Amino acid sequence: MFVSDCLGVNEKGHLTISGCDTVELAKEYGTALYVMSEDKIRDTCRRYKSSFDKYYDGHGAPIYASKAFSCKEICRIVTSEGLELEVVSGGELYTALAAGVDAKRIHFQGNNKSVQELEYAIESGVGDLVVDNISELRRIEKIAERKGVVVSISMRIKPGIDAHTHEFIRTGQIDSKFGFALETGEAFEAVREAVLSEQVDLIGLHCHIGSQIFDKSPFVLAAQVMLKFYHQIYKELGKKLHHLNLGGGFGIKYKNADAAVPYENYMSDVSAAVHASCAEYGLQIPRIYIEPGRSIVGEAGITLYTVGDIKTIPGVRTYVAVDGGMFENPRYALYQSDYTCLIANRASEPAKFRATIAGKCCESGDLIQVGTKIQTPQVGDTLAVLSTGAYNYSMASNYNRNPRPACVMVSEGKSRVVIKGETYVDLIRNDI
Ligand SMILES: Cc1ncc(COP(=O)(O)O)c(C=O)c1O
Repeated sequence: MFVSDCLGVNEKGHLTISGCDTVELAKEYGTALYVMSEDKIRDTCRRYKSSFDKYYDGHGAPIYASKAFSCKEICRIVTSEGLELEVVSGGELYTALAAGVDAKRIHFQGNNKSVQELEYAIESGVGDLVVDNISELRRIEKIAERKGVVVSISMRIKPGIDAHTHEFIRTGQIDSKFGFALETGEAFEAVREAVLSEQVDLIGLHCHIGSQIFDKSPFVLAAQVMLKFYHQIYKELGKKLHHLNLGGGFGIKYKNADAAVPYENYMSDVSAAVHASCAEYGLQIPRIYIEPGRSIVGEAGITLYTVGDIKTIPGVRTYVAVDGGMFENPRYALYQSDYTCLIANRASEPAKFRATIAGKCCESGDLIQVGTKIQTPQVGDTLAVLSTGAYNYSMASNYNRNPRPACVMVSEGKSRVVIKGETYVDLIRNDI
């Protein structure tokens, strides 16, 4: 019935998540409130992990892309399930290290890391610094020389694949700000420079073609292109790399109609392509990584709100205003993302009322969903927005000086706060 199997309806007709009544959660913790199912997150991690055992004899691992949702507890949860961790900023790295993640299991990405971030990563002993461009490579070499260390790096490659997804979350094509282009020879020249360098040890290649992709074929194509390049490096430069990171981007369900592919199917198809290419080139299969973010946490999360006002403009639309908005979920304002919304305290009633869910920010574009069907709303109802576990909390801001909501983790009917809600005092903490 719902987009995620961690959701249900109890005997009171209330929406539940991992056995917790969402109406009770809203009462206990207040709204707006992010709620994440630990059970669902762990289950997804295990499915990815067991696919690696099945398709690569355990020679590889999923890396959780922490940009999807970063806090200390999620770092602890995913790494306790055997995943490695991707970070893209000094802040995400700091969070991971503060959570006790082993720096060697961290992969540091990003297209414009500052010198300070690079130094921090190198001093922390990050296991894999993913280089985005040639000036960054040279910056890393200088820092390594100054510190008298050799830095393990991999390189982000644009495989030239145009994944069918929103242009803001498409990254593998040549016109992208991320990585080295293959077609132009830029990637090979950069690899040659890295291989000859005494300051860096090139250990892997990385690509990421985009996000929220439902089609398996671009992933298969990316694996083929990357292995061809991996082979070229071995043949022409005599350099055998340790790993190949094929990125994330697997689509999830925001609406019931979304045709999400089971993760195991991506894994089987991509692994078949990896095995076939390695056999063709006579290569030993490198350690394989994938880097999912959204598909690990997205469907595990929901956001709860209280309906504050209902405004009907005759012949136009009905706005249902909630105590959140683009400051805690900017995805509709950014790229008109789809969501399923429902009245959590009457979840078993039919959703026949057409509503536009509005936030409380001073922007007409501050909407969560336009013209969506929900149960007939009343002021004071608890409204739930589903599949908000990824790129919601992590993209939140304090726009209009709204404090970011708390995040509660739920498991087997129990709940606990993992991120406290901000207060007004937090908002002025750095004001002089
Ligand atoms: C380099 C890199 N890896 C992994 C991801 C995670 O993608 P997703 O959350 O779609 O799985 C992203 C997202 O943009 C990314 O840029």
